[in-house]
Amino acid sequence: MFSARIKTHHSAMASGKKYVMGPRNVQNYLSSTEESDKDNSTIYIHVPFCNKICSFCNMRRSLQKPSDNYYKLIIREIENYAKLSYVKNSVFDAVYFGGGTPTTLTSDELKCILQSLFKNLNFTKDVEVTIETTVTELTDEKIEILGESGVTRFSVGIQTFNDSGRKQMNRIGSGEYVYRKLQQLKNSKKFTVSMDLIYNYSGQSIRDLEDDLNKICELDLDGFSMYSLINMKETEINEAQNLANDEEMFFFIAEKMKKAGYEFLELTKMVKNDKYKYIMNRHQGADTLALGAGAGGSMNDLMMMNEISIDKYAESIENFSTRQGMLFVPEYKDITIFKGDIQTLKLPANESLYNDEIQYTEFVQKLLDEEYIYHHNEGYRLTTKGVFWGNSISRALYDMI
Ligand SMILES: C[S@@+](CC[C@H](N)C(=O)[O-])C[C@H]1O[C@@H](n2cnc3c(N)ncnc32)[C@H](O)[C@@H]1O
Ligand code: SF4
Repeated sequence: MFSARIKTHHSAMASGKKYVMGPRNVQNYLSSTEESDKDNSTIYIHVPFCNKICSFCNMRRSLQKPSDNYYKLIIREIENYAKLSYVKNSVFDAVYFGGGTPTTLTSDELKCILQSLFKNLNFTKDVEVTIETTVTELTDEKIEILGESGVTRFSVGIQTFNDSGRKQMNRIGSGEYVYRKLQQLKNSKKFTVSMDLIYNYSGQSIRDLEDDLNKICELDLDGFSMYSLINMKETEINEAQNLANDEEMFFFIAEKMKKAGYEFLELTKMVKNDKYKYIMNRHQGADTLALGAGAGGSMNDLMMMNEISIDKYAESIENFSTRQGMLFVPEYKDITIFKGDIQTLKLPANESLYNDEIQYTEFVQKLLDEEYIYHHNEGYRLTTKGVFWGNSISRALYDMI
């Protein structure tokens, strides 16, 4: 039914140009629009620095230490936003530090950012605060200070415990070392702990994959993201195994980990005890305040994309009153929820979005006949096969809107 598997939600989506209304001044718009009454908003903080560059990665980051004032820029950005009534009245339910590697900031710098957030903005009582990290950046001191500062969840980019796989991916530390560090984090019993797993890399056997999964089970991790290696043109390694292998490994993970008590939360995430509110709220159309160089988000239909160049980002904080965002029509929220539905294994409930009802009905029938979906309550859910092809299904449906 599909000729190639789309592996990420980024490539699954076509452009949203037709929903754009045009540029707006951020300060004016977020001071004058209706006040937020939502209590599921989220914050994304981008830290685009890494101490070592992994061979597979083309994220928005660079090989350098954060400048001494990077955290101060973020704090000034928070203070600027906190003066705008819409932001001031929002209640934030989840904060996510992503990267890059956010723990390239010192514990004190991260602590100051968190203190500024809690002082200037409103949060739910059980706010989730996630830090994305590599274990080698995570010292005992950092774990303790971050815990005291409000961090509740760690997303750790392990990728594999296999030493030759780690070498291929240019990851720091042996499999045994990263295993012990994860164990330490888990034993502290203070945090939700999730890890990133990359599978289907060159030379990986099913037994190697099984070893990685056994370690996730032994560690009793709360969840894990599972990414089939994507060949990025501009990265060093370009060696994912073929589609048949990808599929075999995907089903192996799904079946083994379901038996171990994990279930799919997203197309690329299985969990036991991880609510991952940051992503779930976003999938339901929640606002996201974007902070830091290269961060993107949207508040009250105004999309904001910060400059990735640190100098330009610093300038945009200096001149905050002239910052521009891009206003989207309110109906664009329906598209966000539509995308979020598939990412969370549901066939989008909002059937009114489709242009051609017959084309849609025929497509759904085909998905049912070929067991990509099954009836669930009033709608449809993806089968394991449907999860594997989820981003391709998403793209096909999006083309019908
Ligand atoms: C933004 S990265 C940050 C993770 C963190 N900096 C680290 O490396 O530990 C998020 C995740 O995307 C996944 N990823 C990045 N590039 C990928 C690729 N080419 N193929 C598959 N997964 C990839 C990795 O699992 C990575 O941990
Ligand atoms: S995977 Fe993480 S640590 Fe490696 S280069 Fe990408 S962002 Fe940096």
